[in-house]
Amino acid sequence: MAILPIIVAPDPRLKVKCDELTHVEEEHVRLLDDMLDTMYDAPGIGLAAPQVGVTKRLIVIDVTESDDSRHTYKMINPKITWFSDELSNYEEGCLSLPEHYANVIRPEQICVEFLDYEGKLKTIDAKGVLATCIQHEIDHLDGTLFVDHITKLRRDLILRKLKKYKSEKKT
Ligand code: NI
Repeated sequence: MAILPIIVAPDPRLKVKCDELTHVEEEHVRLLDDMLDTMYDAPGIGLAAPQVGVTKRLIVIDVTESDDSRHTYKMINPKITWFSDELSNYEEGCLSLPEHYANVIRPEQICVEFLDYEGKLKTIDAKGVLATCIQHEIDHLDGTLFVDHITKLRRDLILRKLKKYKSEKKT
């Protein structure tokens, strides 16, 4: 168990297309656990491997609001196999873009295929905030951030502010 440093945008490591895993190894299981700890510590509702500097197709998600009904997803090679025509509009944030939010329109419902912890193929239907979160995290695996879905003007403004935030943090 470990808390990993989260990469803040703009950073070329967040713009990489990540590789699929051919098989699930011990180190990936450990990484998923560390990613989950890192996500809870932040705190956030989702985290993708490139955000901690690993260019593999791994994501963790937990959108539950109360502690007693916690539902964690650890997904390896997640792939959207169906999405609804119906759209939804959620205000999104991202641990790699701290303190910035924007409304993003995405399909309201999706079907996702992924490998679980033990390398077994799983399929789930998701809607609402879970569907949004899964799409946001899978985007990360293709080097796409939520700000890539909004106007260039707004995106440039956010990235400029983050650049400043990062340079101030260093000094
Ligand atoms: Ni994110």
